[in-house]
Amino acid sequence: MCGIIGYVGKKEAYEILIKGLERLEYRGYDSAGVALLSNNVISVYKKKGKVAELKNFIQKTPKGNIGIAHTRWATHGSPSDKNAHPQLSNSGNIAIVHNGIIENYLAIKEVLIKKGYKFKSDTDTEVLVNLIEDIRINGSKKLNLDEAVRLALQKVTGAYAILVLLKDEPDTVVIAKMGSPVVLGIGKEEFFIASDATPIIEYTNKVIYLEDEEMAIIKTNRESNKITIKTINNKIKNPNIHTIKTKIEELEKGGFKHFMLKEIFEQPHAIKDSILGRIKNGKVRMEEIGEYKNNLLNAKRIIILACGTSFHAGLESKYFFEEYSHIPVLVEYASEFRYRKPVIYKDDVVVAISQSGETADTLAAVKLAKEQGATIFSLCNVVGSSISRIAHVPIYTFAGPEIGVASTKAFTTQIAVLLLLCLFIASEKRLLSNKKIQNILTEFENIPQKIEQILLEDKSVKEIALKLYEMQNFIYLGRGYGFPLALEGALKLKEISYIHAEGYTAGEMKHGLLALVDKNMPVLFIANKGSSYEKVVSNIMEVKARNGIVISLITKGDARIKKIVDYVIEIPETSDVMLPFVASIPLQLLAYHIALLRGCEIDKPRNLAKSVTVE
Ligand code: AGP
Repeated sequence: MCGIIGYVGKKEAYEILIKGLERLEYRGYDSAGVALLSNNVISVYKKKGKVAELKNFIQKTPKGNIGIAHTRWATHGSPSDKNAHPQLSNSGNIAIVHNGIIENYLAIKEVLIKKGYKFKSDTDTEVLVNLIEDIRINGSKKLNLDEAVRLALQKVTGAYAILVLLKDEPDTVVIAKMGSPVVLGIGKEEFFIASDATPIIEYTNKVIYLEDEEMAIIKTNRESNKITIKTINNKIKNPNIHTIKTKIEELEKGGFKHFMLKEIFEQPHAIKDSILGRIKNGKVRMEEIGEYKNNLLNAKRIIILACGTSFHAGLESKYFFEEYSHIPVLVEYASEFRYRKPVIYKDDVVVAISQSGETADTLAAVKLAKEQGATIFSLCNVVGSSISRIAHVPIYTFAGPEIGVASTKAFTTQIAVLLLLCLFIASEKRLLSNKKIQNILTEFENIPQKIEQILLEDKSVKEIALKLYEMQNFIYLGRGYGFPLALEGALKLKEISYIHAEGYTAGEMKHGLLALVDKNMPVLFIANKGSSYEKVVSNIMEVKARNGIVISLITKGDARIKKIVDYVIEIPETSDVMLPFVASIPLQLLAYHIALLRGCEIDKPRNLAKSVTVE
């Protein structure tokens, strides 16, 4: 949700900032801008639209060794040139880029208006930059930029990651964070600042993650380079430098038309990487659990907190947990949970699932559960992300960076690791025999190969897409392990093709949904030969009796369903528990091909952003 980037060093900043914005564009893409500081002049260029439009707009490469830039996902004020960042203070002396929401901006704005400040945009960010200016110039002597920022932040509530420049301090960038993420990259005589590490890793793998209520003051001039980290209460902190392992090739499309397609095809590998080292001699090892093992084994209840696709992975894992670890599981939308008065016990284990590890709702829900004494496990794909840092037990998927806004490999790797977590509990509590666990693991280790087979059948999914891409609505139905898949399949279709789609449990269909079925309604059934097979076949018959168009995911060779439905997608035979791994792939491919045929922006669907760091 908005990408911010900054550079301080000896090189020309512009190219680095633009390249950084392109890498961060998946976080927001409705407008973009840069500000460069050179010879005590701040030059700002900003434009509604994507980074490419900003590049076209800037004819001549601007100069400067210090700069900040932003790619926006609108919260306050529609996408427009005036609402794009950087925002300038009234005097034009201070420039800011901001990711987050200043909740009390209206009250502050009123006070500033009374003092004579004028506002050109509808953003909360312009209020913040003017508050900084007001604090800086209103005392007996002008404050340094960092001090003015620090005092201003004490007056605001909400979330922010900000980078601030002042015309009169040509060697300084001030950075601060609350709620929204910021990473500082430490190069040789240069510094990079960004919302996440993706634009930094081609320059350095040494990073510092700023914590909430911390600020960094970076100064670089001919004589020295200096970074100071302190809290907004003025307490100096020692920076913790981390080394990141992501490789630059992982951030490229590698010959695929879209990141989403590349990420779908990466799944066999991503699953292998995520389970690597976690299965040994027919046993599950989860060393990261360490001293919290007893909290997990003695938990009376597991509460899963997540949003979007990660929520669907959590829902899928409820079936694993109940089947194998006999622990009751609540799966909660983080955005609802945090605003209720949830009952949390000290012996609850919370599992927060988040690809990015930065989703604001999940982060806030986890903080709430932690304050109330629960043990927090996190499952994230980004090492060092905010949710992992707050967890007692950070567990990771190793899917590699997921750039496409639509989550694909994050889902399959999340359920892979969650399955291992369940089996770990089952084995430690002796709920399953070693033999049974070994059998499950043997089937599980063959999953990447089965996914490869499905990917080879991409052509048949494409053909179905060609027949149905002009439809206005879709229904996805499944039972048991197929139900969260129906939700996930429908989510994929709506977010990238803008077709209205509903995911439902097939059993609920007759309680209302069936009224929607007619000859124009495609209904996709997850109808593998599993424990709900007969029931699903009956549901298919009910839809066919009402002339619905039926697409069925079937177990390879299932002649019975083939005869009664309009289209089939074959998947290899699996046990119930392995269904989500194989069945999610054609659902992702179907959404991809339909969106492609409809001419949609697949990697950056309208109105969405990869990492939702506002509530
Ligand atoms: C899925 O395709 C989405 N774009 C979205 O629902 C996503 O899963 C959700 O925003 C949660 O993100 P997270 O996993 O990074 O927390």
